Amino acid sequence: MTGLMPEVSLRKPETVDLPFLVHLMKDPDVAAGIPGSAYLQNSGDFQEFIRAIRQKEESGSELHFSVCLPDGEPVGMCALHDLDVRAGRARIGYWIGKRWWGRGYGKSAVSALVEMAFQNLGIKELVAESSGSNVRSARLLASLGFREAEADGAAARGMRVFHLVANKGKGDNTVYKP
Ligand SMILES: CC(C)(COP(=O)(O)OP(=O)(O)OC[C@H]1O[C@@H](n2cnc3c(N)ncnc32)[C@H](O)[C@@H]1OP(=O)(O)O)[C@@H](O)C(=O)NCCC(=O)NCCS
Repeated sequence: MTGLMPEVSLRKPETVDLPFLVHLMKDPDVAAGIPGSAYLQNSGDFQEFIRAIRQKEESGSELHFSVCLPDGEPVGMCALHDLDVRAGRARIGYWIGKRWWGRGYGKSAVSALVEMAFQNLGIKELVAESSGSNVRSARLLASLGFREAEADGAAARGMRVFHLVANKGKGDNTVYKP
């Protein structure tokens, strides 16, 4: 699944990385692509964001990863939200610091996240939401085999919803058929 994509690795966010990563995420152009992140523009919510990540991880409903270059430099984050291992479902979220956009890191990160969810966690179906104007995100998802599906109220919220369903073999994914 990696093909010619640049190498990135996913690792548990280290406390020392988080302030830097949240600083990158507060870039309005990055935050614009992340549903519900507008509150991060208020620097007072910064610690709260980190606390919320930790809490959700402890409850098992989310898994967060730093996206790192081969030298270990963190360049973004990705996550499994609404994680339901029993039902085999999760929603993905991802962002890359703007200075690194357009180098294939986003696609590599989501590819690694998909592989980890399908191969390691036994997830059968992943969902992703993108704002209607988020061309990069939509292209990224389409190029990894995600298919857009109608979803109740998504268009009214200005959102597009994409699905990817796991098949049996490694890297052998079929697209979602609503
Ligand atoms: C969406 C995001 C993660 C993409 O990261 P990235 O590292 O720039 O992505 P890539 O370089 O892997 O490129 C992804 C796709 O966008 C395309 N792309 C790159 N630059 C583009 C541009 N200026 N306009 C349109 N598409 C572009 C790439 O060609 C690629 O598509 P392809 O695989 O069909 O060639 C990044 O823009 C981001 O963090 N945005 C803010 C947060 C966000 O929107 N998250 C997604 C919703 S949770």
